Amino acid sequence: MKISVLGATGGTGQAIVKQALANGHYVKALVRRPEGLKVRHEKLEVFIGDARDPDIIETLMEGQDAVICSLGIPAAGTTRAEIDDSIKTDVCMVSTQLLFDAMPRHNVARIVLMSTHGAGSSNDGSDYCNWLRDLVKNRVYDKDDMEAFIAGSDASIKWTVIRNPAIYDGEKGRDYNVYTRITIDRSSKITYLDLADFAVSEVEEAQHVGQFLSITEPLDNKNFMASAEVAPTCR
Ligand SMILES: NC(=O)c1ccc[n+]([C@@H]2O[C@H](COP(=O)([O-])OP(=O)(O)OC[C@H]3O[C@@H](n4cnc5c(N)ncnc54)[C@H](OP(=O)(O)O)[C@@H]3O)[C@@H](O)[C@H]2O)c1
Repeated sequence: MKISVLGATGGTGQAIVKQALANGHYVKALVRRPEGLKVRHEKLEVFIGDARDPDIIETLMEGQDAVICSLGIPAAGTTRAEIDDSIKTDVCMVSTQLLFDAMPRHNVARIVLMSTHGAGSSNDGSDYCNWLRDLVKNRVYDKDDMEAFIAGSDASIKWTVIRNPAIYDGEKGRDYNVYTRITIDRSSKITYLDLADFAVSEVEEAQHVGQFLSITEPLDNKNFMASAEVAPTCR
C-alpha cells in the first residue's frame, strides 16, 4: 500500500513509519523538522511542511491509499506548572478537516487518527479524565473538536480513531486490547511499538472502521477491566 504519515517525527509517528516500511509499504512522511526523522529508506519520501497547509495536504494525498495521522503537541511534563497551556492548539482539528476534504478527490478512503482517552465521548467524568483534561486543556480541546468533526463526517471516508493513554518506550508484543468503552486510570499505558503496529494493521485490515477505540494494556483496577467493552471487529 501507499500510506501517508503525519506527525512522523513524533514518538509514535517514527514507529509508524518504521512499521509501515517493514511491512513493505511505500510511505510519504510529513515533517516540520527533517532532522527529527531518523529513518532513511528507498520506499520513504519525506515532505516538509505544516499540517495546516492545504497545499501540503493535497501533495500528501496524491497517489496514496491510506493515511495515518499522529499529530499532537507534546505535553512536556506531568504537572500543570510544567505544561504551557497558552499555546494555541488547533493542528488536529484543522489538519483533519483538510484531510477529509482532500481524500475523496484523490480516492483515498482509509484514515487512522490518534486521539487521547478523555476526549469526546470517552470523557466519562472519571478521575483520570478530570485529571487529564485539567492538565492539558488546549490539547484535549483540539482532540474534542477533531472527534466531533469526524463523528459528523461523510460515510464515504473509512476512519478509525485511536484514543491513547500514556505512551511509553517499551517492547512490541505486550498484552493489550482495544475498547469501545472503558474507564481507565493512570496505570493505563501502551508502548509506541504496539501502538504503531496496531495503527498499521488497521490500515491493512480495516477491522474497526467507524469506531473510536481506547487502547490499553490491562489496568491494575480489575473492576474497570470487568466492565470494559472490547471493540467488535468488522470482519
Ligand atoms: N505521548 C502520550 O503519552 C500521549 C497520550 C495521549 C495521547 N497522545 C496522542 O497520541 C499521538 C501520538 O503521541 P506522541 O507522543 O507520539 O506524539 P508527539 O511525539 O508529540 O508527536 C507529535 C507530532 O506532531 C507533529 N506536529 C505538531 N504540530 C504540527 C504541525 N502544525 N504541522 C506538522 N506536524 C506537526 C510534531 O512535529 P515536530 O516534531 O516538528 O514538533 C510531531 O511529529 C498524538 O496525537 C498525541 O496527542 C499521546
